[in-house]
Amino acid sequence: MPLSYLCTMAEDLTIITGSKAEIYQSLIPQIKGLLEGEPDLIANLANVCAALKEQFGWLWVGFYLVKQDELVLGPFQGPVACTRIKKGRGVCGAAWQNAETLIVPDVEKFPGHIACSSLSRSEIVIPLIKNGDVIGVLDVDATELDQFAETDKKYLEEIISLIPIS
Ligand code: SME
Repeated sequence: MPLSYLCTMAEDLTIITGSKAEIYQSLIPQIKGLLEGEPDLIANLANVCAALKEQFGWLWVGFYLVKQDELVLGPFQGPVACTRIKKGRGVCGAAWQNAETLIVPDVEKFPGHIACSSLSRSEIVIPLIKNGDVIGVLDVDATELDQFAETDKKYLEEIISLIPIS
């Protein structure tokens, strides 16, 4: 039986300090362990959010899922957030429309940014893609300017790709 079924993995998350790359390289095998043998999308999205939030301490980590013509709030960690985002609106809607990761060093300089929390200063949004279609996005917000770079894009895209989507 996979370890994740035994409810031991969350308690066992190992938090490290180091460079961003070192932190992601420590976290990714642990996320693989959390996802192993679990086919339920919501359960897996919830644990990915929790692992990222616990390791990095970012303000907000969460998923929005495409439902008809909108993104609808899914599993997240952090302050309460807006529940629905139209295609092309805000950073999340733009990442959905363009099917590409968006890094926003200063949210006040992103036209149409949706301020769910006044504490958010920088943001990264990664699309969750299945068979060429965006089925959701991972959104991460930080309280400081310029918190996300190519390293985050690379590893967060890798983490997203680990999530089994049936
Ligand atoms: N800032 C996002 C909205 C979602 S919240 O940050 C959780 C956006 O502009 O799409």
